[in-house]
Amino acid sequence: MSLAVALLASEATPLSKTGGLADVAGALAECLHAAGHDARLFTPGYATIDRERFAPRPLEGLQDIPLQVGAHRYVFSVSEVRLSGSGVRAYLIECPALYGRASLYTTDPDEHLRFLAFTRASLIACTRLGWSPDIVHCNDWHTAFGPLLLRTQFAHEAAFARSRTVLTIHNIGYQGVFGAEAVGDLDLGEQVYRLHQDDLRAGYINPLRHGILYADALTTVSPTHAREICTDEYGMGLQDSLRMRERDLTGILNGVDYTVWDPRCDRYLTRHFDAQHLGAKAELKRAFLARMGFTRPASTPLAGIVSRLAVQKGFELMFDVLPQLLEQRELAMMVLGTGEARYEQFFTELAEQFPGRVVFQRGYDDALAHWIEATSDLFVMPSRYEPCGLNQMYSLRYGTVPVVRRTGGLADSVEHFDPATGAGTGVVFNDFDAPALAWALHTALDWYAEPQLWRQIMRNGMAQDFSWARQSEQYVQIYRALKQGQLADSPPELT
Ligand code: ADP
Ligand code: GLC
Repeated sequence: MSLAVALLASEATPLSKTGGLADVAGALAECLHAAGHDARLFTPGYATIDRERFAPRPLEGLQDIPLQVGAHRYVFSVSEVRLSGSGVRAYLIECPALYGRASLYTTDPDEHLRFLAFTRASLIACTRLGWSPDIVHCNDWHTAFGPLLLRTQFAHEAAFARSRTVLTIHNIGYQGVFGAEAVGDLDLGEQVYRLHQDDLRAGYINPLRHGILYADALTTVSPTHAREICTDEYGMGLQDSLRMRERDLTGILNGVDYTVWDPRCDRYLTRHFDAQHLGAKAELKRAFLARMGFTRPASTPLAGIVSRLAVQKGFELMFDVLPQLLEQRELAMMVLGTGEARYEQFFTELAEQFPGRVVFQRGYDDALAHWIEATSDLFVMPSRYEPCGLNQMYSLRYGTVPVVRRTGGLADSVEHFDPATGAGTGVVFNDFDAPALAWALHTALDWYAEPQLWRQIMRNGMAQDFSWARQSEQYVQIYRALKQGQLADSPPELT
């Protein structure tokens, strides 16, 4: 049974990206398409999209469509990009007034309007295309009003008569909350009672909460995180709503796009390698150390970090641990990232304090991210919470041993190595505190000092398979169950 799936995502590779959501949206669309489904991607037509490269084609009959959101009037158009390789259709919602900004996300006062308009425009585009998706798959807070809109404003649209909805929570830390005074922007009329009343009374509206309340099925991006977000510790204030829907919540680990992230064919690398040819990894490392201005010999273990520098990622654990560790042990560090000032400042100062041993590249750089994955010996992710995390899975394939905290997808994709049995793929620590991270890094360095043991960990990791082909099948099962009416018929109504 082939399914028609509308994937709504605020970012999607290769068009736009700030983090893992883009990788997942792009790869899932391609994988579903490859499996014979009619998966189509809807994403904002940001000013940052390389229009020369993707040559979006304005669609006839979908130009200059008026859209009123509350008291705000916009005009949007839809253009189509065929993603290379697979031929997946991606629809860009073009509205320069909303998406013609310097970055994908902003702190501008109309942020909620940008994505409410995007969600509505995507649904309107389906109707104008005469396309009836079986599944409308929303992602994160940006499109989380989709399920409620389909039950209200779009309830009588023939195109959605049989549509069911899925919301995937990639990051519960971002909920898109805005003030209750903007309630008119939802255009719910007398159906305003469907909004979460306690939140309204408290003076705010939480988009992600409404996705949780109204989607037919909920997913998050790893089994462990699915359990975590129902707890007070990880639910970020949404645990009660999630517990209500626990039966409809599934954790599906993200996949890896091995056409992009594989040392055997990585398009950014000058040499390629696999578990049987690790000599090339060592040569790449030597070249990289020289290029980036490291002064230590290639035998020095290199630790890599590629990350958004956000509180979620747990870098404050490093504030005391790294300066001490660098004093005590032979180690080099390559850090690529951008984000909060305090983390940028920490890594800038660390690089000044340990010249030739720590290099911090502030910014976003795809090519450099691949080089760090390929040439590092260990990859550090001490996350406070991590719904899935992709870099640890990329690291495994590149023979770069992940050092991670046991949370979310990190717990589900990295197994702590056991020298006694030779099983395991990385170093996993439990507690979110500095001693635990210090222990993990010392352990990694101790193991690195035993080349045979280290090669075993590398090889174990390189043999892992997190391909999308396997993971996407779990989404298809949920879509099918929804279509066949096996999952909860309708989520609980609010009173
Ligand atoms: P998150 O979505 O929380 O940022 P993930 O691990 O799921 O975390 O995905 C992050 C993705 O973004 C990876 O593909 C990673 O390589 C990429 N990335 C993050 N920061 C940078 C950066 N500064 N430069 C290049 N790529 C980056
Ligand atoms: C998020 C999470 C990350 C996950 C990604 C894609 O932003 O922080 O853990 O891998 O989304 O699902």
